[in-house]
Amino acid sequence: MKFFVDTANLDQIREAQDLGVLDGVTTNPSLMAKEGITGTDAVMNHYKAICDIVDGDVSAEVISTDFEGMIREGENLAQIDDKIVVKVPMIKEGVKALRWFSDHGIKTNCTLVFSAGQAILAAKAGATYLSPFIGRIDDINWDGMELIAQIANIYAIQGFSTEILAASIRNPLHIVKAAEAGADVCTCPLSSITGLLNHPLTDIGLAKFLEDHQKSQSL
Ligand code: G3P
Repeated sequence: MKFFVDTANLDQIREAQDLGVLDGVTTNPSLMAKEGITGTDAVMNHYKAICDIVDGDVSAEVISTDFEGMIREGENLAQIDDKIVVKVPMIKEGVKALRWFSDHGIKTNCTLVFSAGQAILAAKAGATYLSPFIGRIDDINWDGMELIAQIANIYAIQGFSTEILAASIRNPLHIVKAAEAGADVCTCPLSSITGLLNHPLTDIGLAKFLEDHQKSQSL
């Protein structure tokens, strides 16, 4: 399973890259706004700065909701760097745009996915990645991970090549469960990735090793 970091914060992206386990980055308009990135030039420059840090794919979302606007924006975004993946919402115009981008060799990430039916539509339209929002499904008391498993099963049966990118990840256990459920990619806050490190027995064990080593040195 690939690891993407879900942020537009350059320091966090650098930290994730330095960890040596990063395969890409996803952003969205909310994450860009959180970093105070506004205006077309600043947005384009920020995506370029992200691409310069990471080795893998970088999702950049269109703001337009009509087909022509999405194509125009997506073409501009794709020109920033080969790593750019155009993120398109799961709406009717978005499905048309996914097909157009696929036919023109531009990678896509279909976002705001909450059902298996939407997942089938995105795969049929040639999406490179599909982003089901796990945390937001859990928020309304449904089971986000069941959706990942259902889509993984459908894609395997049907031979769809669209990669399942588990999004709206909120904690380390989400990552583990998404891996079990068959996600191809997890996009996570940096805290969820580093949270995978945590185990009290590791801390206790390391403290004991270091203590014993120290003792042996003073013999
Ligand atoms: O990749 C989509 C993700 O950023 C949404 O996460 O936590 O806003 O539901 P969240």
